[in-house]
Amino acid sequence: MVVIGSDHGGLELKSVLCEALRQRGLEIADLGTDNGDSVDYPDFAEKVAGAVSRGEAERGILICGTGIGMSIVANKFPGVRAALVTDEYMARMAKEHNNANVLVLGGRVLEAMTACRIVGVWLDAVYEGGRHQRRLDKIAQLEADVKAGRI
Ligand code: RB5
Repeated sequence: MVVIGSDHGGLELKSVLCEALRQRGLEIADLGTDNGDSVDYPDFAEKVAGAVSRGEAERGILICGTGIGMSIVANKFPGVRAALVTDEYMARMAKEHNNANVLVLGGRVLEAMTACRIVGVWLDAVYEGGRHQRRLDKIAQLEADVKAGRI
């Protein structure tokens, strides 16, 4: 299951990506926005990142104008590793090294075809584990320490 969400700045690209994901045979949940009215990106980042954080979805995709706001919000959620990606190399690294479970894209900075290729690379790439797991474990420890007020 892939959950996807955008603000008005990412709405057009979200429509394209939803179609591309369906064509890949993936089950998707489109959590909005669903019209061009101006909305606040934290509200949609919360829906998608919250679903991934709670384990309701394995992967999420977020799109706003630049991707910056969505990535800032998504990374507040425990267990979410959101990666703002602008090319196919970053998409591959985001999965292989960072095991990013949320992909963030900028609807106003990416061509639709480029974004489709980025999503495909991220979906197909495989997390390498090994030395990267030590680093992800440190991120999880930092989350726990911040939450407990230890740092
Ligand atoms: C909305 O105008 C815009 O600020 C938003 O889509 C996003 O780019 C924020 O980071």
